[in-house]
Amino acid sequence: MLQNDETQTKICLIFGGDSGVGKAAALMLARTGSTVVIACRDMEGGGTARREIIAKTGNNSVSLIECDPSSQKSIRDCAGQFKKKYARLDALINNVANFDLSLSRPVLTEDGRELIFAMNYLGPFLLTNLLLDSLKNGGVSRVVNIVSRGLSLYPLLTIEFDNLNSERRYSPAHAYHHAKLALVMFTYELAARLRETSVTVNCVWVPNEKLGDDLQIRISPLKKWLYLIQARSDFSQMDMAELYLWLATAKDAGSLNGRCIDEKRRVVRTPKSSYDGDIRRRLWDVSLKLTGLEA
Ligand SMILES: NC(=O)c1ccc[n+]([C@@H]2O[C@H](COP(=O)([O-])OP(=O)(O)OC[C@H]3O[C@@H](n4cnc5c(N)ncnc54)[C@H](OP(=O)(O)O)[C@@H]3O)[C@@H](O)[C@H]2O)c1
Repeated sequence: MLQNDETQTKICLIFGGDSGVGKAAALMLARTGSTVVIACRDMEGGGTARREIIAKTGNNSVSLIECDPSSQKSIRDCAGQFKKKYARLDALINNVANFDLSLSRPVLTEDGRELIFAMNYLGPFLLTNLLLDSLKNGGVSRVVNIVSRGLSLYPLLTIEFDNLNSERRYSPAHAYHHAKLALVMFTYELAARLRETSVTVNCVWVPNEKLGDDLQIRISPLKKWLYLIQARSDFSQMDMAELYLWLATAKDAGSLNGRCIDEKRRVVRTPKSSYDGDIRRRLWDVSLKLTGLEA
């Protein structure tokens, strides 16, 4: 097994690292001299982000792999390409997310899954599982899943096994928080399953940014109000990116495993259901089926 320590150059993959906080984190990781791989759907936008990061940091080890988070085939291709090029993975940051509040009915992906659940949860679940061997080869490796502080508004939220495709009810805000809860449960369950390895798994909950002009126009006053009461006040994208970086690489974050961390680096409580091992294991088994990993 390859050894990894603070002095070794890290190999980091950011799923959804071409814009927003993910891009800011890619920039910071590149500044540390890490090899940064950005998995993104938009290769043109990703290319612009990559050039900008290289120009600002002087680190040429920044590359892109095409990955459409709504397509399981694309995620499999991405994992295959990564493994062909790199012998190990030291940090995987699952930042990708769809928070399109303008959706009024469920949209199905090419795999027949509801889009928000597919992108925000099943995609990270699949990519992480496909890269587990690479993570184990890293010696000491980290998985960081990005969730939302919005979950604090839903302490009783649980996994709706009869509504995973939004067949029973749908709102994009509900679908988003439901998928983020699933990602929290995946974090805790994977951390438990990897306890005997040197891979740790944690999640970060991100507070909301202010609404862009586009969304201001498209969403209802109620949704706007719900969104704004969670709005971020004094935390910038760079602050959040710094938090990603800390969890993904810092020595003093190495003892954290199976935790959810807030913007002040405190361990926070997530909805009650996320601590129920039976629900987590059931979700794991269903997710294996939904992503074709069962075989
Ligand atoms: N920003 C907030 O207020 C807030 C609040 C709570 C939690 N969070 C969480 O923090 C993380 C980062 O947020 P952010 O605002 O910085 O994210 P973002 O820039 O909107 O998107 C992050 C990544 O997801 C991809 N993505 C977004 N919508 C997509 C779609 N419809 N189809 C395919 N890919 C899509 C983006 O690709 P493109 O560049 O191609 O769009 C990008 O690679 C996310 O996990 C988010 O859920 C954010």
